[in-house]
Amino acid sequence: MILITGGAGYIGSHTAVELMMAGHEVIIMDNFSNSKPQTLELIRTLAGKNFPFYEADMLDTTALEEIFTRHKIEAVIHFAGFKAVGESVAQPVLYYHNNVAGTINLLQTMSKHGVTQMVFSSSATVYGNPQTVPITEDFPVAAVNPYGSSKLMIEQILNDLYNSDPQWRICILRYFNPIGAHPSGLLGEDPNGIPNNLMPYIVKVASGQLPVLNVFGSDYPTADGTGVRDYIHVVDLSLGHLKALQKISVEPGIHTYNLGTGRGYSVLEVIDAFEAATGQKVPYQIAPRRPGDIAECYADPSKARVEMGWQAARNLTDMCMDAWRFARPAV
Ligand code: UFG
Repeated sequence: MILITGGAGYIGSHTAVELMMAGHEVIIMDNFSNSKPQTLELIRTLAGKNFPFYEADMLDTTALEEIFTRHKIEAVIHFAGFKAVGESVAQPVLYYHNNVAGTINLLQTMSKHGVTQMVFSSSATVYGNPQTVPITEDFPVAAVNPYGSSKLMIEQILNDLYNSDPQWRICILRYFNPIGAHPSGLLGEDPNGIPNNLMPYIVKVASGQLPVLNVFGSDYPTADGTGVRDYIHVVDLSLGHLKALQKISVEPGIHTYNLGTGRGYSVLEVIDAFEAATGQKVPYQIAPRRPGDIAECYADPSKARVEMGWQAARNLTDMCMDAWRFARPAV
């Protein structure tokens, strides 16, 4: 069985569906800190299958112990963690405690129960402000906020763990910018309050819940002056986790892969693509740069293609249509 921590969250829920569709047995653990219980029902509907669920926090070692005692777990896909960059600057200790200490608890419980396979959700944020693009996995890493530091610390812990005991089989996945939703329109990203990220914000403007999109900066050294990112469909990203599991099941070691499409789009290009794909207008205005943002970030995803046989298949139009199908108000 595969344990999915944070399995009710945005990427975890999509991955749970894909895993079950591919015939895996899964267990989901989530504390609903940034997700909803109803998502579990939707996962069951889409997968056509039930699964054990634990409402548990990874800081709760007794709960972890119970899960690992009750079930024969072969591998863990570890999504659980706090992920808001701004909040991590305001509450660093909370972020380190939850993300780093939580992962240490999980690794200790895994060790105790002889479970040595882990796929870990890292982020392209570990590259900081890259000197050039596209970014390969051997680029220097640099944390620019406590959230990014927590991801880097966990990567370091996993590397040290593997060096101490080569029985471990670990895959670190560095996500670029996941957007979009399940094509059924049932699962997607639904942040509480005013969204920080571009696509959830666009969707709220298109549906009339927010008046206008602020485009943060139009004077970056990019083709149209707005920030460029490597947006990747959440279903493609989820399928990357299946490939990662396959990879570590046949080959011990520690592997790090970029999960991106290899193509960058500017903020204005995303707005255009969204309007063309959905027929909805997205009113926007140019606003000052957002502190901490970089000009341009996109992956060289060829290592994941060559070593795991994974490649993103869905384009920006698919991402926009699926995000809108999930979010649009019922008519
Ligand atoms: N942007 C706007 N207006 C908005 C929101 C975003 O113009 O209202 C712009 C940003 O300036 C940036 C682009 O849209 O150029 C993408 O911004 P997001 O907030 O969607 O994504 P980021 O690239 O800033 O951050 C994301 C994740 C982080 C992760 C990082 C890794 O949110 O968790 O990618 O590169 F660390």
